[in-house]
Amino acid sequence: MPQRPECIVFRGHLLRTSGSQYTSWSSEDALFVARQRLSSHAPASTVSIIYRYLPSRFFIYRLDFFADTRLSNMSQRFLFPRWTNKFLALLGVLILAGGAYASVLFLGVTSPETLNTGYRPLQPVPFSHALHAGELKMDCKYCHVSVDKSAHSQIPATQTCINCHSPKTAAGAPKLSAIHSESPKLKPVRESWRTGESVDWVRIHRLPDYVYFNHSAHVNRGVSCVTCHGRVDQMDIVYQAKNQSMAWCLDCHRNPDPHLRPVEEVTNLAWSAGSEEKQLALGAELRKANNINPQTNCAVCHR
Ligand code: HEC
Ligand code: HEC
Ligand code: HEC
Ligand code: HEC
Ligand code: HEC
Repeated sequence: MPQRPECIVFRGHLLRTSGSQYTSWSSEDALFVARQRLSSHAPASTVSIIYRYLPSRFFIYRLDFFADTRLSNMSQRFLFPRWTNKFLALLGVLILAGGAYASVLFLGVTSPETLNTGYRPLQPVPFSHALHAGELKMDCKYCHVSVDKSAHSQIPATQTCINCHSPKTAAGAPKLSAIHSESPKLKPVRESWRTGESVDWVRIHRLPDYVYFNHSAHVNRGVSCVTCHGRVDQMDIVYQAKNQSMAWCLDCHRNPDPHLRPVEEVTNLAWSAGSEEKQLALGAELRKANNINPQTNCAVCHR
């Protein structure tokens, strides 16, 4: 039998797992797994619903019929062993406690106005990367579409959110893609969709105007988001992880080996070469093979 990736059902959403995020699942794969997982629990009609709503390039395969709580309880029971419930509760308490501790540290030690590292403004929508990029395993490029194509990496347009969080239809019935369609947290997104005015996201990283920076020049050469932005996939609220000073840029431009990885792994923030020696060897190899040679003369960044 061909090897199939494992699947995760998360509160009614069948998600594909990590691995190669864009390629490992086709709709057939998802259908296969869904059928296997569900056949003994869900009526046959359910499976055809899954099939119909599996757009082949959309990487979250949604199982909307789970909205039926009976089925949703069932899905959790047969996918996760019982002890995970207790474990999750404990984890929740730990995270809350840790979060409070961390925010005391942040608030107490750094003042965002004077020191950019740690700058963590409140956003109009409590959007969580830890949920979307971490738990749901959405690729950064799904939302930051232009990060490997242009200098800027852009905050996603409202349409991107509406793909999953569409408002109710005029008739009042939630559409199939309406996850939390009435959540107050998503109100600014629905407002923006209705009026056509974009959500007022607060910009976090910003270099002075006299500095030229280019995302694609880095991302397409194997420098990962994590090197410059930290573990965004674990952040509920994004903050600036590095100070982005000139010295910081130059440090890497002088010696990029510790920071180069295969281009396919650039948005896989958990990736690691295994050990420091392996990283240095791989970095040197990639630099040579791809002729990577970051410049340090002033005109490269001050044009
Ligand atoms: C579902 C869409 C979505 C996904 C997936 C996503 N982001 Fe974001 N990202 C956003 C939105 C919306 C904002 C603006 C709000 C905020 O800062 O939380 C943002 C902001 C950011 C910022 C701060 C931008 C600034 O203002 O300086 C960084 C850095 C970032 N994302 C990196 C990542 C990385 C790295 C990944 C992949 C691990 C990722 N994002 C995945 C939607 C997304
Ligand atoms: C691929 C589908 C998908 C996309 C695209 C997406 N989300 Fe989500 N979002 C989800 C899922 C799934 C949940 C969690 C549902 C749950 O609670 O189990 C969620 C939850 C949320 C929540 C929490 C809502 C609540 O009431 O708890 C917010 C806020 C949110 N998303 C904002 C956004 C924003 C802003 C964007 C666009 C930048 C976005 N999402 C794009 C799938 C998506
Ligand atoms: C070499 C370091 C570096 C890497 C790698 C990098 N970024 Fe950035 N990022 C920056 C800097 C510096 C800024 C501020 C740019 C500015 O002000 O012009 C920024 C800004 C952003 C912004 C705000 C919008 C913008 O373009 O100004 C987003 C979103 C973002 N990065 C996402 C990502 C994602 C997603 C990845 C990985 C695919 C990534 N970045 C990789 C350094 C980096
Ligand atoms: C972690 C390593 C790393 C960091 C940090 C880094 N760079 Fe780079 N930079 C590179 C690499 C690798 C290249 C690609 C060199 C090549 O293609 O030969 C590059 C290329 C560039 C280029 C050339 C783009 C072009 O159009 O040719 C510019 C400009 C640049 N970086 C600016 C910056 C600035 C500004 C910062 C700091 C805000 C920065 N870099 C931080 C590694 C880094
Ligand atoms: C790899 C990119 C890069 C290169 C190369 C580079 N710079 Fe910069 N430079 C920066 C960044 C980023 C800043 C903004 C740092 C900040 O805001 O703290 C900056 C800031 C400056 C400033 C303003 C400092 C201040 O405190 O306001 C001066 C002056 C400057 N650079 C001169 C130079 C000179 C001269 C060279 C050539 C020897 C050079 N830079 C090469 C990235 C670079």
